[in-house]
Amino acid sequence: MHHFSYTGGRLHCEGVDLEAIASAVGTPCYVYSSATLVRHAQVIAEAFRGQRALIAYSVKANGNLAVLATLAGQGCGADVVSAGELLRARKAGIPASRIVFSGVGKTAAEMALALEQGIHQFNVESAGELRLLSDVAARLGRTAPIALRVNPDVAAGGHPNISTGKSGDKFGVPWGEAEALYAEAARLPGIRAVGVDVHIGSQIGDLAPMRTAFEKVVALALRLRGQGHDIRRIDVGGGLGIAYKEGDAPAPPSAYAAMISEVTAGHGFDVILEPGRVIAGNAGVLLATALYEKEAPDRTFLILDAGMNDLIRPALYGAHHDILPLAEPKAGQAQKTYDVVGPICESTDKFASGRTLPEVSAGDRLAFMSAGAYGAVLSSGYNARPLVPEVLVDRDRFEIVRRRPSFEESIELEKVPEWLTTAA
Ligand code: LLP
Repeated sequence: MHHFSYTGGRLHCEGVDLEAIASAVGTPCYVYSSATLVRHAQVIAEAFRGQRALIAYSVKANGNLAVLATLAGQGCGADVVSAGELLRARKAGIPASRIVFSGVGKTAAEMALALEQGIHQFNVESAGELRLLSDVAARLGRTAPIALRVNPDVAAGGHPNISTGKSGDKFGVPWGEAEALYAEAARLPGIRAVGVDVHIGSQIGDLAPMRTAFEKVVALALRLRGQGHDIRRIDVGGGLGIAYKEGDAPAPPSAYAAMISEVTAGHGFDVILEPGRVIAGNAGVLLATALYEKEAPDRTFLILDAGMNDLIRPALYGAHHDILPLAEPKAGQAQKTYDVVGPICESTDKFASGRTLPEVSAGDRLAFMSAGAYGAVLSSGYNARPLVPEVLVDRDRFEIVRRRPSFEESIELEKVPEWLTTAA
């Protein structure tokens, strides 16, 4: 469910005509709907009512401060994977006590920062990380609350590039080593093991692989309790899928929550979840303007001002994003089939092949739907393009929440060494 729809023949985000934003901000730009973010956070909170659950929004999906502040206002915590994400979450008003720190490559400096802030939990992914975290915590006179992220060796069933729970993936500690590592954790001075963590992948529409993984994790947690570990928390990660196109029917949050309730029932665990896409995905669009139509012998290219540097999901995962014209197509309007591409000098700079759209003319504006998660956060300045701006809509008002940098700002971190500018 989202708040992007045609009103009076024009695509709106809540009460704002997207054409007005495109004209004021320029394209490409991302536009997010506050009402959609809030609704998604509330639907998830509602689904987990009755379970002791911390909803730690996965900042990697969309870490814009205004998005985080919106979700902080709904009581969300945060799942972070770097000092940058931790500081963003804190700046947006998310309390440290609701933050979990995931990721395979935490540095000592990041650990120290998170310990000083007093975060809720570290999700530890290797023996080396566990030992370093203990050292860092002991040095600071603190104890780090941890869960080991275990690799349950379960295939998530989604795209291989976003699957994380098979034994060949770099994530988590190997299933067979987990118990020995908890035993070691119990002996380490700076560590207090409080939970078990798992995350098997992203854009998962079918709950069956998740259930298999969570059942394994709960059984492990109970064995660990039997071995004397005070395991109170199960962190189920993120991964719930969203509808990218008509016909997609991912499991809804209510079914997801019911499944988790069933799997954890009767053991008194606190649940942590790390939803990203399901909150932010359908809350954002990327606006673009058509530049040219180019005829090739066997196809028509539609060349846009947005490129793979602005939205890389199609190039990276072959991902589908619906493309809607901002002007509502009229009944009987001519259709045309395009390869929709960007201006970047790469053959993978292609948003869609053979996509049939209402006929597009140069200057027409289009929206890539469901671009709120893993959109702007994955953008780059490739081809010396300025980073794409972001806009937040709230009812009938909007604000630029990250502006487009000027050329000077884009290069201000660089310098030409003196030896290149002075004669020898
Ligand atoms: N927790 C952990 C440990 C994660 O690695 C992730 C996502 C999440 C939570 C949030 O997962 P979500 O609820 O959003 O599925 N760039 C890819 C997705 C990468 C996901 C990375 N990890 C894409 O655009 O599809």
